[in-house]
Amino acid sequence: MIEKVNETVGSLKARGFESPDVGIILGTGLGALADKIDVEQELEYKDIPNFPIATVEFHKGKLLYGNLSDKKVIAMQGRFHYYEGYSLAEIVFPVRVMKYLGIGKLLISNAAGNMNMDWKKGELMLIDDHINLLPDNALRGNGAPQFGSIFTDMSCPYDPDMNKKLAVIAKENGIRLNQGVFVAVSGPNLETRAEYRYLRNIGADIVGMSTVPEVIAANQMGLPVSAVSVLTDDCDPDNLAPIDIEEVLNTAREAEKDLVVLFSELLKRI
Ligand code: HPA
Repeated sequence: MIEKVNETVGSLKARGFESPDVGIILGTGLGALADKIDVEQELEYKDIPNFPIATVEFHKGKLLYGNLSDKKVIAMQGRFHYYEGYSLAEIVFPVRVMKYLGIGKLLISNAAGNMNMDWKKGELMLIDDHINLLPDNALRGNGAPQFGSIFTDMSCPYDPDMNKKLAVIAKENGIRLNQGVFVAVSGPNLETRAEYRYLRNIGADIVGMSTVPEVIAANQMGLPVSAVSVLTDDCDPDNLAPIDIEEVLNTAREAEKDLVVLFSELLKRI
């Protein structure tokens, strides 16, 4: 694994992806931040050695490098999901590559179903903590001590300093930013009413199919991370309407402008 990471890092450096400050992973339907980047280099995943190849058509599958809010950023437009068939080691591979390219912080966005009835779809949630229900772990059998201990401490998985700043930025800009617990499930099917009820009862506010593997890998490597979810559908087990994936994507696109404000302002303050 470490050899592959080094090979990919070398290849990206040779193509001008030099010393980024911050890595950004853009979630489903959340590519607009990429339009704000003053792009210097871009590569499709299929042209990057050892990168998995994006399979879901609404993920563009491009790695971008450039300037955003006076920071050098590297952004993944389109991420890899467990439900696409990748191993979790493959899913976190780009996070390891970004860390070895030199990023000092990682920002993640995603789309998630909302189970907290005080909140509504279209709003955002800053992830304060998570529950991992994925049936595997990216650190399992990972024999590369350079990445850190596989017994990674997860007592504070999301960076308190960046999270505090995001809350302030939201307030300043009149953006409603809820805070709570994200639960990761494998998907790709959406949940039954009984499953939403269960997920709520075990302490989650929102549910999604991504992010947690990348956050675990970031914590293992000592990389501070913050993640913001767009609430794309209301998941009230007592009143559940059929969930249409197109609607999920549309809601994500509509809420995206707030996410762009949060991330681009945060970059100025870190
Ligand atoms: N469940 C799981 N993942 C999701 C959902 C959901 O309701 N909405 C967006 N991603």
